[in-house]
Amino acid sequence: MKLVVGVSGASGAPYARRLLDFLAAEGPGHGISVDLVFSETGRQVWKQGIGSEPSYPFPVWKAKDFSAPFSSGSALGYEGMVVVPCSAGCLSRIAHGLSTDLIGRAADVMLKERRKLLLVFRETPLSLPHARAVVQAVEAGAFVMPATPSFYSRPRDIGELVDTVVARILDRLGIPNDLMRRWEGLAPRSRTEAPED
Ligand SMILES: Cc1cc2nc3c(=O)[nH]c(=O)nc-3n(C[C@H](O)[C@H](O)[C@H](O)COP(=O)(O)O)c2cc1C
Repeated sequence: MKLVVGVSGASGAPYARRLLDFLAAEGPGHGISVDLVFSETGRQVWKQGIGSEPSYPFPVWKAKDFSAPFSSGSALGYEGMVVVPCSAGCLSRIAHGLSTDLIGRAADVMLKERRKLLLVFRETPLSLPHARAVVQAVEAGAFVMPATPSFYSRPRDIGELVDTVVARILDRLGIPNDLMRRWEGLAPRSRTEAPED
């Protein structure tokens, strides 16, 4: 599978870094290749949050380079795309079909070709335009996956917290991973311990 990873200018570069690190290490073994594209602000906010420039062994496309193969629905093999983190502006543009940059165009292609599109949305609080854009993106077929960590696996540090989000991204892409401890339920409570009322 060829996967497009877009990084836009929301405050969530650690999620993108963890996903890209995982894909660089494990992707080839699962037959996954990655094309990477940063929005202009995505690169700036990455540097702000991580402290260094991103460096990966993937083809990296410029923000407005529409010559990328995944700009067209006719390119074969591009079965999915993740925008991580996905800014409110980026999500709104995608929801309204605005192909003003390569992330927007690639996402537009994913939607029109009915391929998998994951938007790891990071903004708080949400305005009404944001909330409406979320609805529209979901109606169009995207998975909106808010960058909200979970705690039931009892993450011990920020890395493990980040992994609770990245594991769910990989799950949705169908990529095997054991980045987080899975919820396996609790033992059923006996009648004497927990009488039903
Ligand atoms: C340090 C910093 C953090 C930001 N964090 C967010 C954020 O978490 N969510 C968001 O929607 N926008 C955030 N923004 C604003 C976006 O970067 C801005 O709206 C930009 O136009 C998004 O462009 P893009 O969607 O092309 O990447 C942040 C900006 C800066 C400078």
